[in-house]
Amino acid sequence: MYKSKITGVGHYVPENVVTNNDLAQHIETSDEWITERTGIKERRWVKEGDSNTTSAMGLKASKMAIENAGISKDDIDFIVFATLSPDYYFPGPGVLLQRDLGIKEVGALDVRNQCSGFVYAISVADQFIKTGMYKNILVVGAELHSPGLDKTTRGRGVSIIFGDGAGAVILQRSDDESGILSTHLHSEGQHAEELCLIGPATNRWVDKIMEANDPTDISYYPYMNGNFVFKHAVTRFAEVIVEALQQNKVRPEDIDMLIPHQANLRISQFIQRKMGLSDDQVYNNIMRYGNTTAASIPIALSEALQEGKIKKGDLVCMAAFGSGFTWASALMRW
Ligand code: COA
Repeated sequence: MYKSKITGVGHYVPENVVTNNDLAQHIETSDEWITERTGIKERRWVKEGDSNTTSAMGLKASKMAIENAGISKDDIDFIVFATLSPDYYFPGPGVLLQRDLGIKEVGALDVRNQCSGFVYAISVADQFIKTGMYKNILVVGAELHSPGLDKTTRGRGVSIIFGDGAGAVILQRSDDESGILSTHLHSEGQHAEELCLIGPATNRWVDKIMEANDPTDISYYPYMNGNFVFKHAVTRFAEVIVEALQQNKVRPEDIDMLIPHQANLRISQFIQRKMGLSDDQVYNNIMRYGNTTAASIPIALSEALQEGKIKKGDLVCMAAFGSGFTWASALMRW
């Protein structure tokens, strides 16, 4: 059985910075409220008419990851693309990325696991490498949230949290001891409607929606039962990290860097306390980007590496929780 490891990382965020004070211009909210509840100070939102689609941002992050890995785009033999905000209802963004990278007709798979999407995608790619089927897999997480958010006071419980961006990694067959040690995936569909975007969907016939033309229909906007999500997130995050540690017979103090999905700084801090981790064992950048869903972990990983916070031989844990509910972790020896 082969092993896989991340050999290249990249990220991209749109230039347009939106601060909490900018939001307070048109939403009844404040910098104090947002900072206290979420830790977020600013996020990146594309400007209207911007060419940064989900796949376009994924392309930019991918090019950086390919360069960082020191491979050619033609070495890529599979693409896994995680997002909840695809360019089109169908086809998914994986094929758009294959086209826009200008590479041969490799397989492209789309992963729909929201905030856990990137860790699910890594797990899928890891299995393909373990079996020997592929050697160089491009794994991407990208999200374009801003055009789909309710940016009025009605939507303030959700819209203040989410940001746009993309991250990508090259997962390669490993020829040494470094690489992915294990991945752990979970779901609990019982809570699907606690964090969701209902329409448009195949159970909502488009002609009926058009006919109703109902301005109070908010099913096109993401819905989140914030308190409920928060409580489940802190429990599941901790559980899935412990699961990874136990499987590999290591302890919390052995973790050199935990890269949690950047859901909410308060969630990260809660997990940090619960696991007894120090500040330099946990990486957070939600303050600058908000919650970028499937993109948050690869963006954070890319920045942590740029800042020299992860070294060869480090034990790195990625963990996520989100809509589904789904949650997941991956433990790696860097
Ligand atoms: N600005 C100001 N007030 C706001 C607000 C905003 N942006 N959003 C909501 N409020 C108000 C509410 O209307 C409510 O007012 P009321 O008491 O008069 O009814 C009050 O603040 C409290 O709302 P509540 O939703 O209970 O706040 P909260 O403490 O749960 O914080 C979240 C809201 C969203 C920040 C928090 O629940 C959270 O972070 N949840 C998890 C989110 C998450 O991680 N999602 C992604 C999962 S991967």
